[in-house]
Amino acid sequence: MRKKFIAGNWKMYTSSITAEMLASSVVKLLGDETRLQVAVCPPFPFLARVASVVKGTAVALGAQNCYPKDEGAFTGEVSPTMLLDVGCQYVILGHSERRQKMAETDAFINEKVHAALKAGLKVILCIGETLDERKANRTEAVLDTQLVGSLAKIAAEQLKNITIAYEPVWAIGTGVNATPQQAQDAHAFVRQRVGGLCGAESAKELIIQYGGSVKPDNAATLLGQADVDGALVGGASLKAEDFLAIVRAGIC
Ligand code: PGA
Repeated sequence: MRKKFIAGNWKMYTSSITAEMLASSVVKLLGDETRLQVAVCPPFPFLARVASVVKGTAVALGAQNCYPKDEGAFTGEVSPTMLLDVGCQYVILGHSERRQKMAETDAFINEKVHAALKAGLKVILCIGETLDERKANRTEAVLDTQLVGSLAKIAAEQLKNITIAYEPVWAIGTGVNATPQQAQDAHAFVRQRVGGLCGAESAKELIIQYGGSVKPDNAATLLGQADVDGALVGGASLKAEDFLAIVRAGIC
């Protein structure tokens, strides 16, 4: 039985004060709910502050990126061990905004996945097609390439520390979400493909989140699909009430 996992990607939003307030509200509204896993992923500068708010609660902490080395002369970068040190359990890798705006490749993302797992972090690995790719009927080919590249040399037993977030690029921040059927079709494909790469047994347990304009009013139908095991929420995670409404939609 896969436990649903709802994560909030705060992107480059919040301030030290509003990050702390948002985290406190999420903690308060969630209470001791353990039927699903919940995480918040603030910007780097606020991780420590949010860590002190969520410590010992049902809310886990995640970061939005890392560099694939433990330490070194990498000005401006943050290592997986530093994230662990500050209290992170999760790190989001391969987000489409980084793939597109920072030109991250599957090979580089794969290095990060290995480094993060080695340090003891759990990975939320994002994949997804653009609108042009979907229109050209290339969705599965794109997901296939991203999975093969970013999961290279990942063993079956490592998969339990990886969540895949299927995030169609055309749905991110646009207010246009994938239909439940589009999400289900993509998720079923991802599970089958990961099964081919890492073994069908471990793929059965794989948590696959949907991301892209998840809101309180569409969360229940998306999360009701057989292979949709959670959500990676951007905009709606910046309001505690909306985020918690999505969390509640995942409790069945
Ligand atoms: P959105 O972002 O919910 O604002 O569409 C999702 C994401 O980028 O993870």
